[in-house]
Amino acid sequence: MRVKLQPLQLSDAENLYEFFQKLPASENGKNNRAHGLSHEDFTKWVQHEIDSAHGKNIKPGRVPGTTFVLYIDDTPVGVSNLRHYLNENLQQDGGHIGTHILPEYRGRGYGNIITLETLKKAKEMGINPVLIFNRDDNVPAWRTSEKLGGMLI
Ligand SMILES: CC(C)(COP(=O)(O)OP(=O)(O)OC[C@H]1O[C@@H](n2cnc3c(N)ncnc32)[C@H](O)[C@@H]1OP(=O)(O)O)[C@@H](O)C(=O)NCCC(=O)NCCS
Repeated sequence: MRVKLQPLQLSDAENLYEFFQKLPASENGKNNRAHGLSHEDFTKWVQHEIDSAHGKNIKPGRVPGTTFVLYIDDTPVGVSNLRHYLNENLQQDGGHIGTHILPEYRGRGYGNIITLETLKKAKEMGINPVLIFNRDDNVPAWRTSEKLGGMLI
């Protein structure tokens, strides 16, 4: 199994359009803002995400963050967001990392993989400690956090 966690790139926009349309718009506090966009607006959104990763054009109340796509054997299966630092809102809800796996690929261990790979990116960026929020009833997310050594606070 080949695992690759790649920052969203403009060159991938065309190939990833359908993927982002299949990813639900909102679940357990994880939003997919690309859901429902036209092709043209999707490309603009991808550029916005790339800007955010470079700390450019950050809207008031938001912080820079990187959007990653998880590829398993070259197939996109999930998305993660890594916020580069926390503001007051993210400290109360949101935290550093959000993860989202396509419904058809859930329950195969990819939630564990995307979280681990995103934690490696956080480490490379010097983000420590990492704050992750899991809702009480989100069992897969809880299990992943526990498995990867998360400390409940
Ligand atoms: C949370 C989410 C990313 C998990 O993805 P996934 O690919 O299904 O996760 P995994 O297959 O790696 O499973 C993670 C753990 O949960 C367990 N699990 C998976 N589905 C489960 C279920 N329906 N009930 C109970 N446990 C479950 C797995 O066994 C695994 O635990 P283990 O490693 O101890 O065996 C995915 O469900 C998702 O995208 N949910 C919507 C968005 C979301 O909630 N994101 C997290 C908050 S930001």
